[in-house]
Amino acid sequence: MPAEIQSTVSDKERFLPLVLASPSPRYSLSQRLQSDYHAFWYRLGERLNWSRGVYRERPVRRLNHLNGIQQERIAALQRRFMVQFEQQSEHLTALKSYDYLDILEQAWSAWGRPRSIGGVVQDVGSSNFWYASVLHAFFRPTELTGIEVEGHRIYFNGYSRWDYACGYIQDLPNTEFVIGDYAKYGQAADVVVAWYPFVTPAPVLAWRLPLSLLAPQALFSRIAQNLKPNGLFVMVNQGAAEAAIAASLCSHAGLERQDSCELRSTLRSRRVFPVVSCWTATSPR
Ligand SMILES: C[S@@+](CC[C@H](N)C(=O)[O-])C[C@H]1O[C@@H](n2cnc3c(N)ncnc32)[C@H](O)[C@@H]1O
Repeated sequence: MPAEIQSTVSDKERFLPLVLASPSPRYSLSQRLQSDYHAFWYRLGERLNWSRGVYRERPVRRLNHLNGIQQERIAALQRRFMVQFEQQSEHLTALKSYDYLDILEQAWSAWGRPRSIGGVVQDVGSSNFWYASVLHAFFRPTELTGIEVEGHRIYFNGYSRWDYACGYIQDLPNTEFVIGDYAKYGQAADVVVAWYPFVTPAPVLAWRLPLSLLAPQALFSRIAQNLKPNGLFVMVNQGAAEAAIAASLCSHAGLERQDSCELRSTLRSRRVFPVVSCWTATSPR
């Protein structure tokens, strides 16, 4: 599993008015230079459209070095969702998969709402879609699509995100990975999921992307448009401050919050607690 950069967010509150009010936010010189550098590689990746073939992880088969709490929690998830991620994935991917599944499970338990089962599920900003099997296990969708704008990124081993995604979804029925901008993706969905969508500049640069890709208002508006009546948008944010910015943007985009919770105990430790929220579209769009 290639390492993805986990971002730090420090300037959220200061940035929110800019995102909402200004069509072209003002960035520092350093941010613009970094952005231009990332834009070069991003465009090159797009142009190269490189593939080395489907990449399949070597399954670890057995998860070692888990503490007692992790062992217990993973065993409970395995029983409840009939999953064994370690039979398809390397150690880190398997552990991260249990962690994401646990986050979804904890959120739904906290909310006491019935799990949304079946239907069309879209995942926004899927990276290489390493967690496709998590969404399958939790939502049991009739169709699952991961949409990622930077799907052509090439890793150090010469495989691209596309190659990895093809491997991750190979055994999952009715699942696809689409390279493109979700803000331009006009397909109806019963559930839309977004893990850590970008709402401030720092994470965009930390993920080595150009700041032109920071357009949360367009992204959330598209989600509101794509949701079917009674459809649900599920969002996970890094910490309460980022969640507050995202919430404000969602409300402006025509989404209404139904539930939210901060998870203080997760399978993998984090600097900030994830905040999970779910939303419906306020009116037919
Ligand atoms: C913080 S990363 C999270 C990746 C993944 N969801 C995860 O949890 O590992 C955000 C991802 O969203 C993608 N992204 C950003 N804007 C997007 C857009 N408009 N359409 C599709 N993907 C987008 C980025 O390229 C990046 O891979």
